[in-house]
Amino acid sequence: MEIFEQDLNNIKDYSNSSRSSLSKCLGVSLSVVDQFSQKKGPGAFNLNRFWEHSAGCGIASRMLAKIFGYRSGAEAFVADLLHDIGKLVIFQYFPREFDEILLLVNEEGMSFLEAERTVLDVTHPEIGWWFAETWNLPTELIDGIAHHHQPAAAENHPEIAMMVHLSGILCKMFQMGFGGDELIPGVAEDAVTILAKTHPMFHRTGDLNLDSYESRFKEEEEDSETFLSLIKAA
Ligand SMILES: [Fe+2]
Repeated sequence: MEIFEQDLNNIKDYSNSSRSSLSKCLGVSLSVVDQFSQKKGPGAFNLNRFWEHSAGCGIASRMLAKIFGYRSGAEAFVADLLHDIGKLVIFQYFPREFDEILLLVNEEGMSFLEAERTVLDVTHPEIGWWFAETWNLPTELIDGIAHHHQPAAAENHPEIAMMVHLSGILCKMFQMGFGGDELIPGVAEDAVTILAKTHPMFHRTGDLNLDSYESRFKEEEEDSETFLSLIKAA
């Protein structure tokens, strides 16, 4: 695992630098992209489509941040860009297990999360959580990464975990890239309660209609092209 430690330290060096929180986040995410974008893993998994999904989720989270009045669209974008980093760790360092996970997804119809639990007894949010803490990322990003499948479990920033959660659903609904499976998860039960804390609209309507975001998402989606071209050029 020598290379693994090297990857970790390269990113850690950046995250320990004395930059502002947001530029540190952006620096860490570009460093992560750089460390993981060219790595080889199981052939059946298309890394370009994975980044397309991650960048699409970032764009969706930035859009939701504007809609819900969250203080930083850039923070939401970075949290979402990195939200599935745990999958890349499995892809790169546990290729045999990654293949087994894909097999369960494709042949048994399991979600990627369920299949991870079955094969590894640990999931990508848990792996990502450990990495995010090791890199000293801000707590907003840690919560977005660690709790995007269960936003209510986020102790400090459930609203950002919720945006990452919802953007994953939007990207699957609107077929943006591929994050490991095609199953569209349901919206977490407590979505409206969490969102109502930051966005007064939900106090009145109690409604969350993801279909209604499609045209706005398509408008913003073009921004992900720029980001993806940077990744492909890395
Ligand atoms: Fe995920």
